[in-house]
Amino acid sequence: MTQDISKQTDATARHAVVATPENIALAATHLRAGDLVAFPTETVYGLGANAFDASAVEKIFTAKRRPRTSPLIVHVADAQDTRWVVRLWPNTAELLAKHFWPGPLTLVLPKADSIPDIVSGGLDTVGVRLPEHPVARALIRAAGVPLAAPSANEFMQLSPTSAKHVASSLAGRISMILDGGNSRAGIESTVVAISADGAVSMLRPGAIKRRQIEQVLAAPVPDVHWDSQGTAPSPGMHVRHYAPRTRLLLVPREDALPVGQGALVSLGSARPALPRAIEEIVLPAEPDGYAQRLYASLHALDSLDRQWIALEPPPRTREWEAVNDRLRRAASSD
Ligand code: TXA
Ligand code: MG
Repeated sequence: MTQDISKQTDATARHAVVATPENIALAATHLRAGDLVAFPTETVYGLGANAFDASAVEKIFTAKRRPRTSPLIVHVADAQDTRWVVRLWPNTAELLAKHFWPGPLTLVLPKADSIPDIVSGGLDTVGVRLPEHPVARALIRAAGVPLAAPSANEFMQLSPTSAKHVASSLAGRISMILDGGNSRAGIESTVVAISADGAVSMLRPGAIKRRQIEQVLAAPVPDVHWDSQGTAPSPGMHVRHYAPRTRLLLVPREDALPVGQGALVSLGSARPALPRAIEEIVLPAEPDGYAQRLYASLHALDSLDRQWIALEPPPRTREWEAVNDRLRRAASSD
């Protein structure tokens, strides 16, 4: 049965299609048949598979060339559907979901048995989130199952904030790419772990700020502590991640730029006396506006094939935490 379906559906989408109701319905058919669909969310584009279907989820790792130990986030369209995904729902989960869902917050909780191990990278916990993007929610509803979805890019590459970015990374490897415009937040969701007693800790900073979560909880949100072996609490958080192919350097404005043909991402205003050979993009000196355009700017500059991309580092304040996390990873050579 599965084999017959996989013969009919070929994993060969080369271009995105507009997310009309008809195309969303067709995409849901692909998902139910165990195939992959890229879809827009408010953070970045996701690469979705039926979260209950281990062999469908398997295809995500193949298409992305991603190690199977990296856990995926499961996306639901309605808060009550988390009961198919997680087996505990502490009061703090309810509180955070009430405040931030639909939206860019992922809650990591003990996994329900219905979610196969491949989704969680063998962990006993799973990340769940209710996205805000109307196309994402319509697609999950039409598929009738939660969708396991990482960002729709090849492993270690820049995350996609448009359907075009997805096509340039995954064309020919997935069944369909739904175009729902540019992602509003432009940076991945914030991932927090919630323990059985309801304690909340930070696994990955993201589009919802730590300060916002702390306000709702009326308590500080510490980083997840690493165990004595130094094992990462959030497998898949490789230091080098979210990176363009072009070498990325963090260069404060007072420092000289490298020699050669390069590109520059400036903060707040154009850099004075910039040589004409250097392509410059100026991003807002405010974290949300900056995050919204960061990946798109790096995608654009990366495609110029320059010798380097220099970037003026933003302030090291809490408001810029998620942006600084991504920049550190993108500029790392590990
Ligand atoms: O905004 C987003 O979160 C996007 C959109 C598509 O929803 N998704 C996304 O997925 O960024 P991905 O796979 O690129 O990153 C998911 C990260 C993992 O790298 C891991 O750090 C964390 O979420 N994560 C997921 N499940 C986890 C778990 N059970 N324990 C610890 N960390 C987990
Ligand atoms: Mg990713």
